[in-house]
Amino acid sequence: MIQVHENRAAAEAAVAREIASLIRDGSGAVERPNGGIVLGLATGSTMVGVYRELVDVVRSDRLDVSKVTTFNLDEYTGLPLGDPRTFRSFMAAHLFEPLGFSESQVHFPDVRAGGDLASAREFEDRIAAAGGIDLQLLGLGRNGHIAFNEPGALHASRTRLIELDAVTRNDAAAAFGGLEHVPQGAVTMGVATILEARSLRVLAFGEAKAAIVERALHGPVGPEVPASYLRSHAELAVHLDRAAASAL
Ligand code: GLP
Repeated sequence: MIQVHENRAAAEAAVAREIASLIRDGSGAVERPNGGIVLGLATGSTMVGVYRELVDVVRSDRLDVSKVTTFNLDEYTGLPLGDPRTFRSFMAAHLFEPLGFSESQVHFPDVRAGGDLASAREFEDRIAAAGGIDLQLLGLGRNGHIAFNEPGALHASRTRLIELDAVTRNDAAAAFGGLEHVPQGAVTMGVATILEARSLRVLAFGEAKAAIVERALHGPVGPEVPASYLRSHAELAVHLDRAAASAL
């Protein structure tokens, strides 16, 4: 399903409301002994408004988030623990601290050992042990990446260490104070890992995403545009503003 919203605020509110109702009554989640739900979370500027809205609705509706477990899509390698540019810090600032999540509720791909195979497998095992991901949020890189599955990523790929694409590093340069400070690598959930989530919610806003949105939704499915793989998922919803939908 593709939903084109009046503006990005409307899209952010729609997605935040959907997550809130998942937290409230677990509809769409697999049944777990503790009645909890599992969210797959994304970073990037696209997600900031979604998390702001979600914090608002959780507070105003007094929702209990103590049984929410989260798995983030990816994390940079080579940054010191607690560096404000890590995705863990982004999530703490925009969602986890405002909602008072405890450390035991949140999970990130382990980059401490440089993303070795054993820790990547352990991350996948933790997702499985939690009963899988009920709803996965995804942004879209200008080069068609999802999480850090850069062009060339295979459909069967799983959590692993990757080398960042030149487009991705350029897009991150401002946030890092220059291209030379942007990490070379990251650990990311794989395409196959992402496709195992029960439902996927992709968000893209602004004219800069229009061309890649068109390729992802209407171009050939394959490694050139990893986001194209998402089209095989039965529970996919794509939320766009008018600018991001302008090439469709
Ligand atoms: C990063 C993240 C992606 C995200 C992308 C888009 O590369 N790893 O998960 O989708 O940025 O970022 P933005 O939302 O800022 O356009």
